[in-house]
Amino acid sequence: MTFSTRDLSPRIGTEIQADIDTLLSGKHAAEIRDILEQRGVVVFKEVHMSDEQQLAFTGTLGNVIDEGEKGVYKVTLDTKENPQADYLKGAFFWHIDGTTLDVPILASILRAKKLSETGGDTEFSNTYAAYEDLSEEDKAKYDNLKVVHSLENAQQYVHPEPSYETMQMWRRVPSNTLPLVWKHKSGRNSLVLGSTAAYVEGMEYQAGRELLVKLRDYATQPQFVYRHKWNVGDLVIWDNTGTMHRATRYPLDSGRMMHRTKLAGEESFSG
Ligand SMILES: [Fe+2]
Repeated sequence: MTFSTRDLSPRIGTEIQADIDTLLSGKHAAEIRDILEQRGVVVFKEVHMSDEQQLAFTGTLGNVIDEGEKGVYKVTLDTKENPQADYLKGAFFWHIDGTTLDVPILASILRAKKLSETGGDTEFSNTYAAYEDLSEEDKAKYDNLKVVHSLENAQQYVHPEPSYETMQMWRRVPSNTLPLVWKHKSGRNSLVLGSTAAYVEGMEYQAGRELLVKLRDYATQPQFVYRHKWNVGDLVIWDNTGTMHRATRYPLDSGRMMHRTKLAGEESFSG
């Protein structure tokens, strides 16, 4: 049985070294959950799990969301493998998963099956740490702001000139108004930002857009960011409630393939 940890940067990311049996035993599940919440990202380098093992390990940490084939979803831009590949291009921009829902997923677990020869790193930013470093004055200013999030706003990054039909399709997913500052049950606060953030409610439109861009710039500065350079067999978990993430660009025909499992959300954006 092995289990040791090593921080990957001061503010975000911890590597856990453990063998598969130890991870599947669930013995360290509470500790892993705790590290995940504190550090945003947990990395298991070249642990080489199978799909079944990844699913079982996910199940030790919380409630698994059943998606894809037998609970494992294939993240690839190859439309032969994934008919929704086009929608995944939104992942090249900073975002939080599930902002059009009131209870977003708790975490995603991604395992590298095949990598692109170029690009395809994944970056994470710690939105708890970004909040903590705001001045008291800014914290007070942002405390009660509400931001409207939409799929349309995020997809505009990918298709800046959509057809009318495409726009109508995006709009079938209702927009969602969320607090800018997520006040978690734990007592900690994080920022809710990213590509789905369309405008600030009750604020002049341009001023609100400026604030959202300024805050995204601020929250994705190097001190808040961990960039994962993948090796095949790596498994990475991120806390979707306290981080934003994005993939760096890679060729669409690279064959890059990641297998993903998800943990169901346990807390709404309103805490
Ligand atoms: Fe995502």
